[in-house]
Amino acid sequence: MEVLITADRIHARVEELATEIARTYDGKPVTVVGILTGCLMFTADLIRRINLPLRVAFITASSYRGETLVPGLLEIRDELLPDIAGKHILLLDDILDTGKTLTRVVAHLIDRGAASVKVGVLLRKIGRQEVPFEPDFVGFTIPDKFVVGYGLDFNDEYRHLPFVGVLLGGE
Ligand code: XMP
Repeated sequence: MEVLITADRIHARVEELATEIARTYDGKPVTVVGILTGCLMFTADLIRRINLPLRVAFITASSYRGETLVPGLLEIRDELLPDIAGKHILLLDDILDTGKTLTRVVAHLIDRGAASVKVGVLLRKIGRQEVPFEPDFVGFTIPDKFVVGYGLDFNDEYRHLPFVGVLLGGE
C-alpha cells in the first residue's frame, strides 16, 4: 500500500473545509446528506467541526458491484432520508470520479423538494470526469489511480484505514 494522503493532512484539510462551509451557510441551518458507505469517515470528521445548526442523514447510491470497477446501473435508495422539503442540503461523497453519481443524486434531492443542494467531496480525480459537474467543496485533487482508505473500499475492505492509499499489486 502506498500512502497518498496521510491522516494528518486529511484532518487539516477537513478542518479548513468545515470553516469554509460554515462561512458559506452563514448561520443558516443545513442538512448534511452523506452517500453511504464511502462518505462514512469524511462525514463523521467534517460534521464535528462545522459550527452551524445541523441535521445529518444518509442515502445510498451504488454503481460499482463486487470486485469489478465497471459501473453498472446506479441505484439510489433513500428510505433513511427524512423529509427534506425546503431544506438546504450539503451532500457529501468520498470521491468525484466520472461525476455520474453526484449528478444523479443532486437531481434526486431537488426532486424531493430540497431548497438548495451544495456538494462536498473529499477527493476529485483528475481527467476522469464524463459529465459537467462542479462540486462546491473539494478536499484534494488526486491522480487517476484507484484509491482506498478513509471510507473508500476495494471489495468492501480497507474502509477503516485512517489515510488514503493506493493498492500495490498482491495486496
Ligand atoms: P462517479 O463515477 O459516479 O463515481 O463519479 C463515484 C463513486 O465511484 C466510486 N469510486 C471509487 N471508489 N476508489 C474507491 O474506493 C476509487 O478510486 C473510486 N473511484 C470511484 C465511489 O463509490 C464513488 O462514490
